[in-house]
Amino acid sequence: MNKTSKYPLFFVLFIFTFKLVLAQNSRMIIPSEISMNLEKEMQEMGSELSADDIYNPNMLSINDAVIQFNGGCTGEIVSPKGLIFTNHHCGYGAIQSHSTFENNYVKNGFWANSFEEELPNPGMYVTFVRKIQEVTNEVLNGVKDNMDENIRKSLIQKNINKLLQTIPKEEWQDIEIKAFYDGNKYYAFTVENYKDIRLVGAPPASIGKFGADTDNWMWPRHTGDFSIFRIYADKNNHPAEYSPENVPYQADKYFKISIKGIKAGDFFLIYGFPGRTQEYLPALAVQQKVEVINPARIEIRERVLNVMDKWMKNNDTIKLQYTAKYARIANYWKKWIGETQGIKKTGAVEKKKAFEKEFIQQIKTQNLDKSYLLIFDQFRNLYDQIKDPELARNYFIETFYLNNDFLKRALYVYQLEKLYEVEGKNAYKKNKEKFKSYITPTFSNYNSALDKKTFITLLELYQNKMPVKYMEGISKDINIKKLANDFYSNSILNNKTQLIKLLEKNPKKFIKTIENDNAYVFLKKFIDNYYNKISPDYYSLRDKINRLQKKYMEAIIKISPTLPYPDANGTLRFSYGVVKGYEPRDAVYYYPISHLKGVMEKYVPGDYEFDVPKKLIDLFKKKDFAPYSKTGQMPVNFLGSAHTTGGNSGSPAINKEGELIGINFDRVWEGTMSDLYYDQKISRNIMVDIRYVLFIIDKFANNKRLIKELNIIK
Ligand code: ARG
Ligand code: GLU
Repeated sequence: MNKTSKYPLFFVLFIFTFKLVLAQNSRMIIPSEISMNLEKEMQEMGSELSADDIYNPNMLSINDAVIQFNGGCTGEIVSPKGLIFTNHHCGYGAIQSHSTFENNYVKNGFWANSFEEELPNPGMYVTFVRKIQEVTNEVLNGVKDNMDENIRKSLIQKNINKLLQTIPKEEWQDIEIKAFYDGNKYYAFTVENYKDIRLVGAPPASIGKFGADTDNWMWPRHTGDFSIFRIYADKNNHPAEYSPENVPYQADKYFKISIKGIKAGDFFLIYGFPGRTQEYLPALAVQQKVEVINPARIEIRERVLNVMDKWMKNNDTIKLQYTAKYARIANYWKKWIGETQGIKKTGAVEKKKAFEKEFIQQIKTQNLDKSYLLIFDQFRNLYDQIKDPELARNYFIETFYLNNDFLKRALYVYQLEKLYEVEGKNAYKKNKEKFKSYITPTFSNYNSALDKKTFITLLELYQNKMPVKYMEGISKDINIKKLANDFYSNSILNNKTQLIKLLEKNPKKFIKTIENDNAYVFLKKFIDNYYNKISPDYYSLRDKINRLQKKYMEAIIKISPTLPYPDANGTLRFSYGVVKGYEPRDAVYYYPISHLKGVMEKYVPGDYEFDVPKKLIDLFKKKDFAPYSKTGQMPVNFLGSAHTTGGNSGSPAINKEGELIGINFDRVWEGTMSDLYYDQKISRNIMVDIRYVLFIIDKFANNKRLIKELNIIK
């Protein structure tokens, strides 16, 4: 061995391990920041896409065919006439809103046979991102690190407001400015919001939601989680409010659809709008989340779900009423369990601690600002302090806002009362319609007796588990059951007609009535406690933590050999990976592709999660899959190693040639800790195979009109 290579070798090894630790962070890339290195790295994995294909503001590129769907999901343009694919669970609200007892589109599916049959959805919108530019210098102009928090925030806001006025844009466009890297960088987005979005097609829930809550977050999966919409525009092809005069949006850029098929190892890209990740938290914050916060939230929801489940099992009407609510509550309940287990199993906290040691070492070696060395002590101090207010805040929100309709009404009434007290009569009048629109839905799909049970469950838990400091003024030995019986029979909060009518009256009458309502008077103490104590305590610490996190991120950027990718923040990103299975536990391997055969294996006639439409069974028996599959097997879902999160639902899965091969809709349970700690060994995203989507449209729904509209590559 060559002696002189000893030191260089040592040095190389050192960089290598250092990079290894760092490699575990976000893999969600801002399209405008795609580097030559990354382009090359992707090409080595099989990609044939150039950086310009992925994003170029001066020509058509993939971003022009990707939309944010109704603020929370993603969708993709699949025809020159503005046709959109997204998930069934993203379009669910719209599908449900058009459903009646006679025309139950949730149950039976919906397929428009002409433009005239496509159904408008008031309030729904989609967003294109046309241009992305960094504006850090402009936003942080004049901002100093040692500024008072409020002064700093208002200066940043002032700078942002100025930019919103000055960045050039077309009349039909908007500018949005977002913070990245915990406020170390800012980017401006030139966007177009289209507001006339019509429902075009949806499979029955027995396909689009197959496996429902049992299979949610799980592999093997067999869900046809897709629905179809269309953008309508004015005659200049610009955004417009709904009008019968509007015409289908002319898309210059849309996805071709590949039915060539996929196999393990194939490169793919996910392009969309991931909501939130926190890959750069210190170890102790992750530890607090999985040891304190998640267990509390899981326990609360578990109790509520148990109550609901019992009632839903015994009563079909209740089951129908509560299926969607149950699914919403169960979705994150299940995710938090997976996340908590995943953090433990991957040793994420220890790995983060190892990184932190390395971090300290690097700050010293690179002779960086000494104050960085204090960061972890400062974090410890702040996270110790925030534990109780954070827990209290979670108890409050889960109880009063997320899991019970009666309590939610009390919260809305409280907010309206405060609005009147603080801002006066005009503010009340201006906002009462808005509050009506919040309160009314809490009475739909509502069973008062069931709600009363969850009320008791939630408030008893609150009495026992809420940090004592935040229960001040509320006696611990109140008999909740007894109160609940009185409240649910007598309170105006449980009387839709009276409560809505009351909002029509003048504010004085409103105040007088609710201030004489026993339930409201009782609950108001809890809500007061939240706004006067929990929330101020929480946010003053949260501000400090955020500022320290910004400093930590700034230092991570300084010591990193290349700029790490920023956490998700609801903005347009892409991430890449390969089709790949995983090992969920010892001696078990999960293959990455599921088939229609598996739907039949799970089939339980009449079951609300696992029923299968007769027509699908017939198609399966006849193996009538061509041209979408010629192997005698119909692929349904597949797994990949792209880093995704909530908000990526509906995102296009794109092959090496830029064609659509799938629609993203979920992650695997064992890997859901990827919001805090992405682990390429077990973090997987789940996609619907586009061939299954086409097969359902063509063979199951027999909708040749849509098939003709698509550009299918064989
Ligand atoms: N887990 C997927 C996503 O978060 C799908 C959620 C919809 N399905 C359901 N059963 N709730 O968030
Ligand atoms: N189902 C999620 C969504 O609605 C995507 C799954 C995830 O969290 O990765 O966006």
